[in-house]
Amino acid sequence: MIIKASDGREFPVEMHKTRMLQKITLIPAEERLKAIKEAGYNTFQLKTKDIFLDMLTDSGTNAMSDNQFAGFMTADDAYAGSMTFYDFADAVKDVMGYKYVMNVHQGRAAEHLLAKTFVQKGQVVPTNYHFTTTKVHIELPGAQILEIFFDEALETKSTNPFKGCMDPQKLRDVIKKYGKEKISYVRMEATANLLGGQPFSMANYKEIMKISKEAGLLTVLDGSLLCENAYLIMQREEGYKDKTVAEIVKEMCSLVDIFYMSGRKNTCVRGGCIGTNDKKLFDEITPWLPVYEGFFTYGGMSQREVGMMAVGMREMIDPSVAGCAVEQVKYFVNRLEETGIPVVTPPGGLACHIDARKFVPHIPKEDYIAGALTAALYIASGVRSMERGTISMERDKDGNEVYCDLELTRIAIPRRVYTVSQIEYVVERLNWLYKNRELVKGLKWVSEPPVLRFFLGSLDVLDNWSRNLCDAFKKDYGPDL
Ligand SMILES: Cc1ncc(COP(=O)(O)O)c(C=O)c1O
Repeated sequence: MIIKASDGREFPVEMHKTRMLQKITLIPAEERLKAIKEAGYNTFQLKTKDIFLDMLTDSGTNAMSDNQFAGFMTADDAYAGSMTFYDFADAVKDVMGYKYVMNVHQGRAAEHLLAKTFVQKGQVVPTNYHFTTTKVHIELPGAQILEIFFDEALETKSTNPFKGCMDPQKLRDVIKKYGKEKISYVRMEATANLLGGQPFSMANYKEIMKISKEAGLLTVLDGSLLCENAYLIMQREEGYKDKTVAEIVKEMCSLVDIFYMSGRKNTCVRGGCIGTNDKKLFDEITPWLPVYEGFFTYGGMSQREVGMMAVGMREMIDPSVAGCAVEQVKYFVNRLEETGIPVVTPPGGLACHIDARKFVPHIPKEDYIAGALTAALYIASGVRSMERGTISMERDKDGNEVYCDLELTRIAIPRRVYTVSQIEYVVERLNWLYKNRELVKGLKWVSEPPVLRFFLGSLDVLDNWSRNLCDAFKKDYGPDL
């Protein structure tokens, strides 16, 4: 719920209360410096004992509801024919309208099965924007991902409410250039994660679906952040202000051939699913399910997780759930804008994204701008965020660096986990860091894995800047914070 105060300020009020909690601690800056060094300046490698606020991701880190825990307790553990799976399938039918559904262990497993079934060497997959795991699954069989967004999508400061749209003219050009046979499918990602959680409009989505269908192309919706996109359509698009999130979600799902999602976000559970109303397409995918995931009625998840996901599926369309991260992100972004910190606007779906190129403009692109800022934020605050820039890209086939369109430090907002006062803490520390930004310098590789290097890679600082940053912090705040 949004409260409009008499002085004009708006702030989100949580529509839940905390009934179970996890203690967190803030270790002092000196220990944080040691921890990030040991982690190879890669926040994925930090241990949670060293983290104050874990804003790495909204994936698998959300608070589950009491009813979801009830779903855990009452799940039917049968290997085959579990009634919990059929309950989940009913929830999918009710919420998304799909007759056919299979579980998978998480979003990338769905991407794997879709690539295995529909992507062939030499083909292309047009998309509004890539996601890291999606790109790898499409490239592994020898296909290529084509990002056909509007140019404005890369403008970090913008008032365009729908920067996640696909450019219809570019799609027509792709169809003309490659022809139906060379296009595996057209992929839309609901609230394009790596663009800063930016949504597409329903009008654009409908147009893309229409063009694709007229050309006889298969369409796929990555709905990992489906409800946030629906919530933002409800808030921002003409003609949708009086619709509910539930109605918008159903409409989005009805327009596409195949839907998939990571369950770790909207349904708050480790898992995922693929849904469709096309039996023929479904039958093409199912043979791979037991090979890579598990039997048809659990698909790589435990039944307890399927039970929790069934409840989460019904809960995710409640506006207080669909909107809780969106409203906190909006608050966070507005607070940073007030203090002049360069942040992606308009606020998107899953996180507050700092524009690292503008925050630390003195760092050259070769020195991993967003990676350095992400490590610096941890030293200055104990807050774990995620690099979403060049480190999150793959090198090209000749081993050359591929510089990312955007260099973002993503500060994710897990659903129903953090409070407004904790967000205020991050705002305060970001302000300190901004004033001391000249101290932050670049990073260099120590050990670089060949695929998805951002997960396990290890780096070091150039010019010992982390020591200087830590000393400056201690000078201002003392040795205990
Ligand atoms: C848009 C999108 N697609 C796919 C995935 C992959 O899902 P998972 O992490 O569950 O494998 C993610 C995860 O963050 C995502 O944001």
